[in-house]
Amino acid sequence: MKIGICSDHAGVDYKAAIISHLAEKGIETVNFGTDTYESMDYTDVAHPLASAVESGEVDLGIALCGTGNGMAMTLNHHPGIRAGLAWDETIGALVKQHNNANVLVMPARFIPLGKALRIVDTWLGAEFEGGRHQRRIDKIPFRG
Ligand code: RB5
Repeated sequence: MKIGICSDHAGVDYKAAIISHLAEKGIETVNFGTDTYESMDYTDVAHPLASAVESGEVDLGIALCGTGNGMAMTLNHHPGIRAGLAWDETIGALVKQHNNANVLVMPARFIPLGKALRIVDTWLGAEFEGGRHQRRIDKIPFRG
């Protein structure tokens, strides 16, 4: 299991903490940046992360920005990505169980760090339920 992770300047500290948290569990991460507090555009790290998930270079992704919305909007432009925003542990589980999110997105400025780590754990521990949820996922691409 290899997880790609990225953040903009708003999520740098949370990203570092998640990388350590996953390392303690023996889970390898690939860091797509950013690693400074200098203001930057979330798109510049979100697209490389999305491409790595789509190519199979990493199995799953985690992305953080201030609200999570810029990351989610950018990531979901990639056809192979289902990026889901989660701000509590239950949603962290549901975004895998119901939406099979292959990238977990969190709003670093609006949740405490401990909650972010627990969301990562519930998302990783959850299983996609398939069935009616697979049917709904299949209908996400707009076909006019
Ligand atoms: C950065 O100030 C902020 O706009 C960004 O982290 C994110 O919230 C955008 O969606």
